[in-house]
Amino acid sequence: MGIQITPSILNADFAALGAEVNRIPGADWVHVDVMDNHFVPNLTFGPTMVEALARVSPVPLDAHLMIADPDRHAPAYVEAGCGSVTFHVEAAAAPVRLAREIRSAGGRASMALRPATPVEPYEDLLPELDMLLLMTVEPGFGGQSFLDLVLPKIRRARALMERHGVETWLQVDGGVSLETIERCAEAGADVFVAGSAVFGADDPDAMVASLRTAAETAAGTATPHA
Ligand code: DX5
Ligand code: ZN
Repeated sequence: MGIQITPSILNADFAALGAEVNRIPGADWVHVDVMDNHFVPNLTFGPTMVEALARVSPVPLDAHLMIADPDRHAPAYVEAGCGSVTFHVEAAAAPVRLAREIRSAGGRASMALRPATPVEPYEDLLPELDMLLLMTVEPGFGGQSFLDLVLPKIRRARALMERHGVETWLQVDGGVSLETIERCAEAGADVFVAGSAVFGADDPDAMVASLRTAAETAAGTATPHA
């Protein structure tokens, strides 16, 4: 799998989400940010809303659960029609069991790390995951500034994946734009969430294409990861 662009609808028009997802037919996934006002200080939507969106979206949904007790709630998002479900390791009681439950329900299992959470303790979990999400802002809100301090962790995560020979996708989320996507791709990320950069653009689908080109160019010129 090459470079993938997954626009976040967090900064889209919540009163017209069906129309908003149809403005980005060139995207690989639509990223839906589920927030519960406990794990993060913001509140969005739950599985009923996600299920309605899955029915009208031209591309599959990538759920990012910023919620407490994902062990209990995550499988419902596979049932709601999401192709990929990401839970936060900081919130999960049993991440191995949860990843296996998501997979057995038919979804791609993904685990997220906040900016200050190290990747090394989770090295042995990589074969259980279809994707690892490294947050490049503190989760909770769109439109925040990209945290360059996460770049070394992206490089280390990519090196761990290569050492284990796994096909795990490496997603970055937060402050990704034409200004920052190249450094993420050079560091080894291959799945890019972009919220305000896409939905703040006059032509969101053209922005998806521009982000893809920038990431592909940067990844192509990246030096091999040791
Ligand atoms: C933040 C969310 C992100 C957010 C990204 O907690 O997880 O997905 O929508 O928005 P931008 O791209 O504006 O930082
Ligand atoms: Zn997100």
